[in-house]
Amino acid sequence: MLHKYLKLICLLAAICVLCIISQNSTKIWGALKLPISHYYSNTSMISSIPTMPVSPVKSLTETELRVKEILERLDRLIPPRPFTHVNTTTSATHSTATILNPQDKYCMGDQLDVLLEVRDYMGHRKEYGGDFLRARMFSPDLKAGASGKVTDFNNGTYLVSFTLFWEGQVSLSVLLIHPSEGASALWRARNQGYDRIIFKGQFVNGTSHVFTECSLTLNSNTKGCKYLNGRDQDVFYCMKPQHMPCEALTHVTSRNRDISYLTSKEKNLFHRSKVGVEIMKNQHIDVSQCNKSKEVKEKCQIGMKIPVPGGYILQGRWLTTFCNQIQLDTAKISGCLKGKLIYLMGDSTLRQWIYYLPKVMKTLKFFDLHETGNFKKHLLLDAEKHTQIQWKKHSHPFVTYQLFSVIDHGYIPQEIDRLIGDKDTVIVITFGQHFRPFPIDIFIRRAISVRQAIERLFLRSPATKVIVKTENIREMHIEAERFGDFHGYIQYLTLKDIFKDLNVGVVDAWDMTIAYGTNNVHPPDQVIGNQINMFLNYIC
Ligand SMILES: *[C@@H]1O[C@H](CO)[C@@H](O)[C@H](O)[C@H]1NC(C)=O
Ligand SMILES: *[C@@H]1O[C@H](CO)[C@@H](O)[C@H](O)[C@H]1NC(C)=O
Ligand SMILES: *[C@@H]1O[C@H](CO)[C@@H](O)[C@H](O)[C@H]1NC(C)=O
Ligand SMILES: *[C@@H]1O[C@H](CO)[C@@H](O)[C@H](O)[C@H]1NC(C)=O
Ligand SMILES: *[C@@H]1O[C@H](CO)[C@@H](O)[C@H](O)[C@H]1NC(C)=O
Ligand SMILES: *[C@@H]1O[C@H](CO)[C@@H](O)[C@H](O)[C@H]1NC(C)=O
Repeated sequence: MLHKYLKLICLLAAICVLCIISQNSTKIWGALKLPISHYYSNTSMISSIPTMPVSPVKSLTETELRVKEILERLDRLIPPRPFTHVNTTTSATHSTATILNPQDKYCMGDQLDVLLEVRDYMGHRKEYGGDFLRARMFSPDLKAGASGKVTDFNNGTYLVSFTLFWEGQVSLSVLLIHPSEGASALWRARNQGYDRIIFKGQFVNGTSHVFTECSLTLNSNTKGCKYLNGRDQDVFYCMKPQHMPCEALTHVTSRNRDISYLTSKEKNLFHRSKVGVEIMKNQHIDVSQCNKSKEVKEKCQIGMKIPVPGGYILQGRWLTTFCNQIQLDTAKISGCLKGKLIYLMGDSTLRQWIYYLPKVMKTLKFFDLHETGNFKKHLLLDAEKHTQIQWKKHSHPFVTYQLFSVIDHGYIPQEIDRLIGDKDTVIVITFGQHFRPFPIDIFIRRAISVRQAIERLFLRSPATKVIVKTENIREMHIEAERFGDFHGYIQYLTLKDIFKDLNVGVVDAWDMTIAYGTNNVHPPDQVIGNQINMFLNYIC
């Protein structure tokens, strides 16, 4: 009760502050220039109402309202779909896919629409939507692929639209990844608990060390140590070891807790045989070139709105459809990267970039920073050309069996706040895979605070280039409740919404990996190479 009251006061105060300072943006900037060190993580803070300058409090309350609004929108998008028997859930085999207005001849550039009518196992038409579908067209001989766009009419029918990007025989596919009942159950389960992952913290004193349990939210097993990032209120808790201070925490690791919020009936929906079942069996069309004139597009640039699909693959290469990619040879790339400082902030899908980049610019060499493990900060240098590329993990939540250091890590917003920025500074951001096992509010909060940090960066340095790589799809037959693509898809939509009017470049890894059909959390090198090519097109 008291807590709510305090929140209300903060809210009122924040609204007033907001109306005063929003009149002059230079004053906001002034407010943000307050002692920066104050905001950074401070171990073992106890006070529940941090005494902080007004502007962070303002953004906090604003943030809470925005989080609530996004959550409500998602709840409406994914309503509960209780069912009494699997028989009444969507069945791929009973559902039908019909090509609308079939033609004798299809031309490159045409759109092909497919009407999907979904039915349950007893053949009855479904009356609501929400099925988690994946549409793809492909020609294996041409190493070609593209995603299709799915429109849900919320009445058991869907329109799947394909753009015929290339010439030749094309196969069409619409997979039912999860029935709407499964998707709803996953959404409910996800938001029910933070404890699908157990974190363990390693505390070190000289040569002795102890492990205690840690978590993203306070519980009785993680009392004692609170690690707070002041500005954004990101917290991490650990049980205090008996004979060591909270400051002795050096590493964290995680493992899966044997827990599920799905009922056994719901779990049935995620049986291997029911995940990713084809609805369009053996459907091919032939596409001719038909001499259509190609429209001339602008060069790819940061800030462009990207459609879905935003491109396709032909002969293994990703080709964008909304802008003109330039062909970059070794000399051009090397010239472009000269003098650049590139910061890769995120997870191991972005670490793949730093492993690939020396193939693109051969003079880049790894510089040893004396850390160990996969999750250490990675640094690539070409001192002569003054090129520096680094990768850093995005901090909590980070889900891995390996011990990772928490000494030299920061939340993405913190890391952005530490950069001066200029026209030769480039930031690439990706996060999502490690957020899938937790309630979505953690992801939403982080996305908002990353956005706010980018806005602060653009105030001091509008010329800094920011690229966002979205999450990619991963293994189809993975534990859906903890790591599945449905969670990733909701995050993908949420991120695009939160970032929609920011002047950033987007590498749509979701769209690309559907096009490639790589159901792998770490896409193969070819995909990474094409992501990097897209990235270079934005910054060169
Ligand atoms: C904002 O404030 C600064 C300094 O207080 C002043 O120089 C500037 O003219 C103001 N700008 C606007 C748009 O009010
Ligand atoms: C950290 O928090 C403690 C307790 O609130 C405070 O006394 C200390 O000054 C803080 N340290 C920094 C660096 O902000
Ligand atoms: C479910 O459907 C199958 C096949 O149509 C049928 O044999 C079975 O009796 C149905 N079960 C229920 C509970 O409706
Ligand atoms: C479903 O909705 C679409 C779009 O509103 C409409 O065209 C179609 O007739 C509806 N189908 C059924 C079976 O209600
Ligand atoms: C660390 O270990 C040393 C030697 O065992 C001990 O003297 C010291 O009190 C310990 N420090 C803490 C903070 O536990
Ligand atoms: C395509 O256009 C070219 C020149 O404009 C012409 O020579 C050719 O016959 C056309 N092909 C078809 C299939 O229409």
